[in-house]
Amino acid sequence: METVMRNMFLKLAKNRPANKLAKRYGLRFGAQRFVAGETIKHSIEAVKQLNATGRVVTLDHLGEFVFTEEEAKESATMCLLTLDAIHQAGVTANLSLKMTSLGLDISRELCMRNMREILTRARSYGNFVRIDMEDYAHCQMSLDIYRELRQEFDNVGIVIQAYLYRTEQDIADLNELKANLRLVKGAYKESPKVAFPEKADVDNNFKNIIRQHLSNGNYAAIATHDEAMIRYAKEIVREYGIPNDRFEFQMLYGICEDLQKKLVAEGYKVRVYVPYGNDWFGYFMRRLAERPANVWFVLKNMFK
Ligand code: FDA
Repeated sequence: METVMRNMFLKLAKNRPANKLAKRYGLRFGAQRFVAGETIKHSIEAVKQLNATGRVVTLDHLGEFVFTEEEAKESATMCLLTLDAIHQAGVTANLSLKMTSLGLDISRELCMRNMREILTRARSYGNFVRIDMEDYAHCQMSLDIYRELRQEFDNVGIVIQAYLYRTEQDIADLNELKANLRLVKGAYKESPKVAFPEKADVDNNFKNIIRQHLSNGNYAAIATHDEAMIRYAKEIVREYGIPNDRFEFQMLYGICEDLQKKLVAEGYKVRVYVPYGNDWFGYFMRRLAERPANVWFVLKNMFK
């Protein structure tokens, strides 16, 4: 039953008409639990509240299904405005983005142009930009672009997904770039040809890559709500004598708040991924897929 629901939510996440419709009607069905609001102002308010509790933030202006140059330009502008707003508000947050929203599916050149502009603006503020990893179809392209950008910018990082078979090799290849990586389990529906179908294997590989990347001596953002993975990362850090400023834990807005606060109290750096914007549907569906029990929470909100 869980697998059926998971697959259904992941399919819905990619459904273009549903995404379009949701955009028109604003945050619904309890999506406010996972999405900070529709405007930059809302997002900065959320950052201020999180900063006040010792947590830092990565802000993401939500945007999927971008197929025209104009739409890509609009997304890029929102990224630039988000960086401006972070700087003006003097809050502690960096930026996460999806390259498909910047035109990756239209042309590599367009995406590169937008990325360069965003990274240049971020650099002028001393800020950092993280490239989210999307589905497998975009993985190689994303890594290639990251490699190229990394030659020009030191304020850019990317995400690596533990569910992919290729991941260990990718981390080994990225070592020469001293890549700043966010390590995650992986959120998309992938074929067993490219990704571990069993959760136990994904968890094992997640542990392997935490060890691999931290022991390589590069900055790691360990992005998970899984306490077993967090415990493992703490062990590795102790084993290799890695200082607290060489890694951070990351969690999603609205998920495992108590665990976030507990880690802060223990002296760890915790960054919360805060999405905002009106293109919330795909992101929301992926969160439901991760934990189908969330569906009760949606139903409750529908009848409120
Ligand atoms: P797991 O799914 O095993 O969950 C462990 C526990 O966490 C659950 O038992 C539950 O208690 C809690 N939990 C997890 N998800 C929940 C939810 N949605 N609602 C309520 N509780 C939940 N993926 C990707 O493919 N590309 C990317 O760029 C990113 N970026 C990213 C950034 C950050 C900061 C985070 C935390 C995650 C991502 N992800 C991602 C998503 C990631 O791949 C993964 O799908 C989720 O983090 C869920 O996996 P966990 O590691 O939390 O473990």
